[in-house]
Order: sequence, then C-alpha cells, then structure tokens
Amino acid sequence: MINISKPKVVLTRKILEPGLSILKENCDVIVRDKIQPPTKQEIIELVKDADALVCQITEKIDKDIYDAGKNLRVVSTVSVGYDHIDVPEATKRGIYVCYTPGVLTNATADFAWTLIMAASRRVVEADKYVRDGKWVIPWALDMFLGYDVYGATLGVVGVGRIGQAVIERARGFNMKIIYYDIVRRQDLEQQLGIEYCELNELLKRADIVTIHVPRTKETIGLINENNLKLMKKTAVLVNTSRGGIVDERALYKALKEGWIFAAGLDVFEKEPTPLDNPLLTLPNVVVAPHIASATVQSRTKMSELAALNVVKVLSGEEPPALVNPDVKKIRPPEQVKMI
Ligand code: DGY
Repeated sequence: MINISKPKVVLTRKILEPGLSILKENCDVIVRDKIQPPTKQEIIELVKDADALVCQITEKIDKDIYDAGKNLRVVSTVSVGYDHIDVPEATKRGIYVCYTPGVLTNATADFAWTLIMAASRRVVEADKYVRDGKWVIPWALDMFLGYDVYGATLGVVGVGRIGQAVIERARGFNMKIIYYDIVRRQDLEQQLGIEYCELNELLKRADIVTIHVPRTKETIGLINENNLKLMKKTAVLVNTSRGGIVDERALYKALKEGWIFAAGLDVFEKEPTPLDNPLLTLPNVVVAPHIASATVQSRTKMSELAALNVVKVLSGEEPPALVNPDVKKIRPPEQVKMI
C-alpha cells in the first residue's frame, strides 16, 4: 500500500467554514483552538513540521517563525495588510506569502463612509445623549450641529483599491475630490474626476480626510502634530487603514484643542486600544475595534481566498494573491508542489 501523505496546514485561529472546507479537501488541517491570538512561542510550536501557515493580522511572522517552520512553503494571511509579515525574509527562504486583496474592498469602503457620516453628524454622541436621558428639550436649532457631507471637499490619502472604492461612493454626495498618494495616479484622475495634491495641501483644503495607505516605514506618523495643524477647524479625519499612520497623541491634542472638528477611527497604534487611551475620553471621536472588513460576505471571501492561496501554492500553481512573486525565482512552483 502506498502511503500518500497530505500536506500539513496549520491555522493560528479558525477561519470561516467555506475556507476550512477548501483546506480540508486537500490537506491535513490543524486549527489552534483558541480565540486569543497566539503568543510567539505558540506559533513556533504550531509551525514545526507544517508545510503551510494560515495567519491573521494579530500575528507577527518573522525570522524566528521561519526558523522553527523548516518545512514552510507558504504563509497565507487572512487580510489585505501584510505589515505583520517579514516578506523579504520569507522570499529569501523560498516561502510564498499570500494575502486577500479585493474581497474586502467594498466592506472597508462602506465602513470608511460609516465613520465619515458618524463623525461629521455626531451620531454616537447623539445616541448616547438619548440613552442617558438627556433629551429633554424636544427640538432646538443648535442641537448637535455637525458639518455637511454633501458638497464637501473629500481628501483621500492613498488611492489603491479601497481609496478608489471610497471615491466611487462620494459621487452621490456631489463632492470635490482631491487625493494624495506616493505615486501620482494620472490614469485615475480623469476616470474618477479627482485632483492630485501634495499631502499638506490636501490637509489644508479638505473638509473630510480619509486614509487608505498600508503601514510602512514611510507611512508611520504620516499624519502628525505638524500637519494636523494645517487642517480646517471644521474638518473630519477618518482612519480605517492601520494604527500608527496617525500619531494618536497629536490627534488627541488636535481634537481636544479644536484644531479639527472630529475623527473616526477603526484602527489604533495598539490593539485593543487600552481603556486609558486619552482619545476615548473625547466626545468628538467615533471609535470601532478594527471591524471595517467585518461583513459576513467579506470575511467569508477572505477565508476562502486565504485557503485557496494555500492550496494553489501547494499544487504548484499560481496562487490568486501572491505578495512576493520574486519567490518563484528562489523556489519555482514545481519545487513547492505537494498536491
Ligand atoms: C486587513 O485585511 O488588513 C484588515 O485590516 C482586516 O480586514
């Protein structure tokens, strides 16, 4: 009898069922059975003998993990961001790194708009006011005044997939749209009716600023005390990308001292953000626990795509979403093939 062993895939935490089924059809699957993200030591234990690792944004995947996972052929993150993975080191070692772009674009863009609306129109503050029994005057002209979204100038920082989806949604609000990106996207300017400007100019001109850049060495602290001071006192700032891109201490000052009107934050420098984060004391900040992509449809597709990435790599085929195509020069697909 020939013993055909299947590749071993380990998951740091469970993914949604359609994704799990894709993996189980093709591989031996081990899912770490805890809700909390694993410690580094737990990941090290998990990857020993594993051919593939499915991870999430909460796990730092670095040299130590690759050292422990001598057989690792693919690391597949259930996220579009991959700043938690040391990609160059993986490439050097011939490990394929995959991610889940595209399938969460609409959910994330919708949520950026949720925060834009909520912060501009003080929805969370007003909700609390009603629940706290403070609504005693039936109606007043100056109660909970916010700022118009319709007809406002929208400043989009980063016009990748999600930034573009946010722009598409602005059409119905008759907005002037300006954008900044490290590379000017002339190809998009006519198509989307957007105008390029440098970051400082964008911050000066925009009524609403929404951030859609990855976290890299260049984008950490991109929005800081110096440039927050350039913004309009009536402006709203929304971040659904990554914590650390907006300097939280500076943002606190800006909101507290009225340099800007309000902010909407789905991401924080440290997650979960500690309860003593001064930002949480401010009424003009709407916060969420990193849930921009959290719809049933989006998280299901993310799980499926992360699984498919693994199966394709282990089949010696092109995965649908490969971060490091250069890895193919180090370890060609036929050498990775196990299925
Ligand atoms: C990502 O995918 O990078 C998000 O931050 C979580 O969906």
